[in-house]
Amino acid sequence: MSSPSKLIVHSQTTPLQGAITVPGDKSISHRAVLLAALADGVSVIRNWLPAGDTLATLEVVRALGVSVEMDEHHPNSWDLRVDGRGLRGLRRPAGPLNCRNAGTAIRLLAGVMAGQSFPSVLDGSEQLRKRPMGRVTEPLQQMGADIKADNGHAPLHLRPAPLHGLAYRLPVASAQVKSALLLAGLYTAEGVRVHQPGPARDHTERMLMAMGAVVTTQDGWVTLSDEPFGGRRLLPLDMTVPGDFSSAAFPLVAAAIVPHSQITIRGVGLNETRIGLLQVLRAMGADVRVGNQQMTGGELAADLSVGFAELHAVDVDGPTVVRAIDEFPVWAVAATQAAGRSTVRDAAELRVKEVDRIAVLVGELRRLSAQLDEHEDGFTVHGPTRLRGASVDSHDDHRLGMALAVAGLAATEPTIIHDAACVADSFPGFVETMRQLGAAMEWVEPI
Ligand code: S3P
Repeated sequence: MSSPSKLIVHSQTTPLQGAITVPGDKSISHRAVLLAALADGVSVIRNWLPAGDTLATLEVVRALGVSVEMDEHHPNSWDLRVDGRGLRGLRRPAGPLNCRNAGTAIRLLAGVMAGQSFPSVLDGSEQLRKRPMGRVTEPLQQMGADIKADNGHAPLHLRPAPLHGLAYRLPVASAQVKSALLLAGLYTAEGVRVHQPGPARDHTERMLMAMGAVVTTQDGWVTLSDEPFGGRRLLPLDMTVPGDFSSAAFPLVAAAIVPHSQITIRGVGLNETRIGLLQVLRAMGADVRVGNQQMTGGELAADLSVGFAELHAVDVDGPTVVRAIDEFPVWAVAATQAAGRSTVRDAAELRVKEVDRIAVLVGELRRLSAQLDEHEDGFTVHGPTRLRGASVDSHDDHRLGMALAVAGLAATEPTIIHDAACVADSFPGFVETMRQLGAAMEWVEPI
């Protein structure tokens, strides 16, 4: 999804204003198409996110023999009809399953493919092949799975093997690993129990429950029960995916740092396990209001209104980190405009995201004259700084690319972001959406 392309961002001299929506939630979109494929019957999924990462999951599901029809009534919001084949109805794929850059796709699929009666290979881009897979292959092996990684990395080779129950303590609070084990648990008689050291996102649990499975959470243990819910059949989904809070984070921070801005983002998912940034921004003095709350597909959604404010520094650590894990690139930009020293700790996980998000973020923001110190498990930002426009690089990391674009708005000269097409891995239409608010950014090369 990431053909080389340049994004130019100008110094923002006018306030950001207006109301926008952001595309559907990426985590929920991956899960919805994958779980719908395993259901008995036709699922309807509205406002599904057609981004680089989620399209990888959709194509894998099709390669497994599942029919997916889509109504592409809007380029960034599709309605899907997925003809589920049941837990045991997937077809042997013709070749390796390509998860592209999507960590969520490969790790969740590892759990599903471990339970199949045919062999498969899960693979992806060079970037994905660098990310750690032992965290998912090791507990799956403990469940009886025949899964082999290449020295802890993709490609993953799976062969049929009977799975059994497991009680497993996750060493890191990873929703992808938790989800893989819950999905593999669907193929056991005993179910599965997973302990999470922190509150990792719970979309898989919510969706499985909506589909009739029995999932409970107590004292950090998430349990997929051994109760044979409907003879181990998943009911089809009928849901609307809420807007992605992790995408909303970019206009949210942009409005908080561009003087006199006032914007509204409608229909944003506000799952408790995802909104650490909201609490952190409020603690920094940002004026964020929540209105028009509603439930959609078992998830809370609402309109967010945010305006410019004089921000001050805060420290972030402990359980807040996992609830804001994808938002640190853009939070760092907010911190460059906040008075004082902001530090994030307990965030070593950032080093194994799409790229080493600590090293790369610190390096690229320094090019814009931000002052940061790097720590093994986080970083410190010294603010406020007058950012200076410069040439920077996304390193093929969508969230880094968008964070740099937000930083560019607060810089005194134009900022050029190289290799920026990757923003569409999670937020297709990012530039158009920001321009709706009056943001001064444009593609230099057509994508
Ligand atoms: C995700 C879980 C998180 C997050 C990623 C999406 C998911 O990763 O960073 O962007 O959809 O389950 P980890 O599970 O590795 O923490």
